[in-house]
Amino acid sequence: MSKLAIHGGPKIRSKPFPKHPIIGEDEKKQVMEVLDSGNISTFIASPGENFLGGKKIKEFEEKFSKKIGTKYGIAFNSASSALHAAIVAVGVQPGEEVIVPPYTFTSTATSSLMHNAIPVFCDVKKDIYCLDPVKLKDVLSPLSKAVVPVHLFGHACDMDDIMSFARKNNLRVIEDCAQSPGGEYKNKPLGTIGDCGIFSFQESKNMMTGEGGMLLTNDEEIANIARMVRNHGEMILESSKKRTYKSEFLGWGYRMTELEAALGVSQVSKLDYFNEQRIKLASYLANEINKIHGLHHTKYDFVKHVYYQFGFSYDEGKIGISRNVFCDALRAEGIPCSDGYVKPLYLNPLYLEKRAFAYKHYHGNVKYEKGICPVAESLYENEVILIPVCRPPATIGDMSDIVNAIHKIIENKSELTN
Ligand SMILES: Cc1ncc(COP(=O)(O)O)c(C=O)c1O
Repeated sequence: MSKLAIHGGPKIRSKPFPKHPIIGEDEKKQVMEVLDSGNISTFIASPGENFLGGKKIKEFEEKFSKKIGTKYGIAFNSASSALHAAIVAVGVQPGEEVIVPPYTFTSTATSSLMHNAIPVFCDVKKDIYCLDPVKLKDVLSPLSKAVVPVHLFGHACDMDDIMSFARKNNLRVIEDCAQSPGGEYKNKPLGTIGDCGIFSFQESKNMMTGEGGMLLTNDEEIANIARMVRNHGEMILESSKKRTYKSEFLGWGYRMTELEAALGVSQVSKLDYFNEQRIKLASYLANEINKIHGLHHTKYDFVKHVYYQFGFSYDEGKIGISRNVFCDALRAEGIPCSDGYVKPLYLNPLYLEKRAFAYKHYHGNVKYEKGICPVAESLYENEVILIPVCRPPATIGDMSDIVNAIHKIIENKSELTN
């Protein structure tokens, strides 16, 4: 009789993993305060006090920017909106190029297209899956204006090398910290190293507001432009009492509500605790997984990894079955996992067929085709496995089910064929 669950054997785990996110009494109290006040947004798109939002928005912006360590925090209704605003605020012009990794969430790149700028993909590193600074020179062009390092899954990019390349070549740096709030590179908080950093508070993230995002910066000009992009391109300062639009440039309805900000006020005070729990669970997994010939998790010593997801590398040659067959078997044992994360972005029709308006007014030589970022392609096709449930309120007991399932599959791999 078969031992593996994929062929009808007993599962290692039949109950679901504990539910995330954790919503406590404090979140409820904060949200009730907003509901009782009767002011759910408070933002208006014209000059005056309310241009910058209401009480909870201001409190959340102050608390989060203080927590990470920047002068300014500008809340948005998503990290994608914050990224779009960042592209505008650092001075990228339509037709210019922005260097991004292809192994990331879609909006790391589409935020440039939204401003009619062109994403140019630079390959990532095989061990930490983040932008490879050595390859930046291969994609630099006279049109390059900015670079967006993504601290993927919570692990920092090589920021010293990226910053020195950027400064030498006059590139602005937007750190995509959607997956890494509270993470650090050589004791520096992520989001404080480049010209600005953007964060996501979408429900699955380390801290969350349902949907939401924030742009952090020490640069007053970036902060002011971001505030205008957030609020329909209107001017912040205008003495006239008459409501009249003073549109200086294209802006959008990217405002966060007081309800989401209220959740953020509560969650920011728990960020350290949430991250500590993630690190504790991930350290256990890393230690166990690194004992297995053919599996490996990498974390650099000088990085504080905050484990939005727990990722590890799979070597088919050593294990003897393909990564995808292994992941099918793991899921059958009751362990959620993702084989490969996302297809490198440039392999999607949006890029292959240059479907965005931006390309009609572009005079550069960007190329999107299979083979341009071989490391990202191989990570996606054969190497990376992600465990999304390495997060509180899960326990070490829950993590040991993952390890037991991995051992069970390897011990019984003769039941599997590629
Ligand atoms: C790397 C990265 N950047 C940007 C985003 C966009 O975040 P949001 O969903 O808040 O727009 C995400 C979301 O998962 C992400 O993972």
